[in-house]
Amino acid sequence: MPSNNDLVNQIQNSLDIVEIIGEKVRLIRSGNSYKGLCPFHSEKTPSFHVFPDTQSYYCFGCHKGGNIFSFVMRTEGLEFREALEFLAKRAGINYSFSKKDKGAKSLYDVAEMAAEFFKNNLKSPQGTAAQAYMKRRNLNEHDIENFMLGYSPVSWDALSVYLKKSGVPEKQILNSGLAIENKNHIYDRFRGRLIFPVKDITGRVIAFGGRLIDGEGAKYINSPECEIFSKKNNLYLLYEARNAMRKKARSILVEGYMDAVRLHKCGFTEAVASLGTSLTSEQANLLARFSDTCYICYDTDKAGQEAALRGMYILREAGLDVRVVSLPEGKDPDEFLSANPPEKFEDALKNAQPLVLKHLDFVKNMLDNPAKYNVGVKSFFDGLSKLDAREINIYQNKICETLMIDPLVLKNKLIHNKNFVAPVKNDTAKNFLHKTTLLNNDGERVEVDELEAGFCALLWNDPYCLKKIKPEEIYTLLKSKSAREIAFAILNEGADVLKTRWLEFNDEFSRNFIAIGEGYCSRIKESERWDKICKLLKETNEQNTFKNIYAKLIKGEATNNELNAVLTLNNYFS
Ligand code: UTP
Ligand code: MN
Repeated sequence: MPSNNDLVNQIQNSLDIVEIIGEKVRLIRSGNSYKGLCPFHSEKTPSFHVFPDTQSYYCFGCHKGGNIFSFVMRTEGLEFREALEFLAKRAGINYSFSKKDKGAKSLYDVAEMAAEFFKNNLKSPQGTAAQAYMKRRNLNEHDIENFMLGYSPVSWDALSVYLKKSGVPEKQILNSGLAIENKNHIYDRFRGRLIFPVKDITGRVIAFGGRLIDGEGAKYINSPECEIFSKKNNLYLLYEARNAMRKKARSILVEGYMDAVRLHKCGFTEAVASLGTSLTSEQANLLARFSDTCYICYDTDKAGQEAALRGMYILREAGLDVRVVSLPEGKDPDEFLSANPPEKFEDALKNAQPLVLKHLDFVKNMLDNPAKYNVGVKSFFDGLSKLDAREINIYQNKICETLMIDPLVLKNKLIHNKNFVAPVKNDTAKNFLHKTTLLNNDGERVEVDELEAGFCALLWNDPYCLKKIKPEEIYTLLKSKSAREIAFAILNEGADVLKTRWLEFNDEFSRNFIAIGEGYCSRIKESERWDKICKLLKETNEQNTFKNIYAKLIKGEATNNELNAVLTLNNYFS
């Protein structure tokens, strides 16, 4: 496995930018470069150029440019790390950021081998029952290829034995979640099930869902969480859906594996399914990467509707415009599309309700029941408290009419709920703004970082802090000249000596600097000051490093060393 240090080089050496971009853009040779229609803005004459010499691209129309990494980030909607993994896979480099055992086969290899095993098994005579089941559910051979469908034989250990024979240690088979250990024996988790492999956003198989086709047992089972699979961070068919989501500027979210498959088969390739759990904010953020609008289409039963209600607020919080699709009672998307042409489903999408109206509809029948009236109204306003007033105002009349309340009451409620305050999405951002200004001893206004001043104030007031830090650490923590000078003076001479000197030389700047720092510290609980300020300083530094390199990365100017440095800043990647 290559280290971070040579991964970036290795990818660049083994892939050709012309080939990678050529898959997305029709390129024509033009002198030493290639040109084509820009994928980042719409144009009729080509101004997008790819330069094989420098392995870079640039659009003279919209001025977007960069290297192979930024191209993949932009066109695939990937973070830098994901782009690396995506390209590593293309280059045939076995690489993953997740830790793994020293064994020869990674968990990704094991999952891929299992998917292949299940698929072959489905196509073999062993898979006759599963093929018949597929036929009943209107699935064909193309679907086996398109969705990598498979069949896990009715056997206690067929897969485990196969994997062991192929050189996968037993421990690794257990780690993958494909087998379960019991009294020193290992058993296949999936038996007698139609298999739906789940891929991550870069297209690697990471888990499986299995539908029972006959007999007793849970209708569906899923791979357990493991090193390469976390349910909350993945969606079924996301890898297959992401380009369509971008093109159609919408996503469709459903509950079941079969629902997602059916939608894809009927041309709704922007559909994904949550993985048998309620929607998470991580999944919502994944969807928000590709389009701004999400259609939720959950089951019409009570559980499905309640899940839709929770889901729509989670999607909203990820910044998505949410629509809730209603299908006829008792029909899930798979059943609906098995009985109706795709146009009917498109109609259902057109008639989908915006979030506020959907919630209002949901509580409507509670309102007729005096015992439930308050619960209904409360649930509605609890939901609304997450929205912006402008979003609610459009439906003012409808809300007042349905809840039988006066518009003034609604307005009061909204003010009470603070809907008129723009929501702050990410308040860590505030942590990075600690600037104030101060006159220096020459009477010039200079910028002071309150956080750095706070750090100096801690050194100043608490001799104990001096023992906690080495001089070289101060250099990495503090960036401004004034903070560094003051911190080193305290370190070298101690507060008492300095106090006298600052008075003697009338060094008001240093005294005020400490005062600003003390003011900053007073806002933090005493026992937490040191840890919190050190942590914030480190985060600010990382954030700045990240921002600088990221800006270069997007322009294609970052050096390989800088790209590798970014990889160590874990906080800024999902
Ligand atoms: P449903 O029970 O609605 O099934 O479960 P479905 O999708 O309509 O299944 P078919 O059409 O009968 O094949 C929806 C989703 O909930 C999860 C699965 O992810 C399933 O796709 N689920 C359901 C489980 O994880 N376990 C179960 O036992 C049932
Ligand atoms: Mn179904």
